[in-house]
Amino acid sequence: MKDGQARFGADTGLHVAILMDGNGRWATARGLPRSEGHRAGLAAVRRVVRAAPEIGISTLTLYAFSSHNWERPASEVASLFRLLEEYFCDVTDCHEGGVRIQVIGRRDRIPPSLATAIEYAEQATRPGRRLELRIAIDYSSREAILRAATCPRPGRETSEEEFARRLALATHGGPATPDIDLLIRTGGEQRLSDFMLWEIAYAELLFVPCMWPEFGLADLEAAMDDYLGRERRFGRVPEIAAS
Ligand code: IPE
Ligand code: IPE
Ligand code: MG
Repeated sequence: MKDGQARFGADTGLHVAILMDGNGRWATARGLPRSEGHRAGLAAVRRVVRAAPEIGISTLTLYAFSSHNWERPASEVASLFRLLEEYFCDVTDCHEGGVRIQVIGRRDRIPPSLATAIEYAEQATRPGRRLELRIAIDYSSREAILRAATCPRPGRETSEEEFARRLALATHGGPATPDIDLLIRTGGEQRLSDFMLWEIAYAELLFVPCMWPEFGLADLEAAMDDYLGRERRFGRVPEIAAS
């Protein structure tokens, strides 16, 4: 049994979401172009994806490119898309590690070669059962909610479950995913930047100062320790919540 499994249990089955922020500042502080920060950020993604299933995470949602990030210089956007394409073109590690890739967000504005690489990665990793890896690209939570809220039968009441199903259809065309248990944001900012606004209704939030390229296994384990030490009450009093 690996260390992580011993500490956290192999089947905690948590949904963790990460707002991977700080690539640009990490690079600038080292006199490097921002694209090098994104490259180092991708290495951090690989580390975290490898470690996640060992420490009880069964679903991992990563924010890679927001719909607002189109406002960045075209050269930075292009370098990000190139890196993402590189990632999706070689998914051997994911395939061998039982990781199933699902990209969420719009597909109609990204470069066609990236869309093709995404389809390839999703297809190639479909049998994966150890970790559901969801990567948000050209994603806006508000936009997804708006699309889901466009009711086919106006006036008809909707349950939370049905809305969650419609939201999943609006973001990736698949079945609803479990609510997020823990949301981590690196880079020191304490905001949500239009990420998973519906799915984090009862998530525990953790804001960490380290820049995303520096985030490693020890940080992920510390985040899990922090999460497991919290009491989630869901509106109940402590005695009832604990039972
Ligand atoms: C996160 O890092 C990656 C993306 C948003 C694509 P940033 O690029 O936002 O890095 P900072 O926040 O400018 O340091
Ligand atoms: C959020 O980071 C988006 C991603 C991590 C992909 P930003 O750097 O774009 O967010 P703001 O602009 O600081 O809110
Ligand atoms: Mg940022």
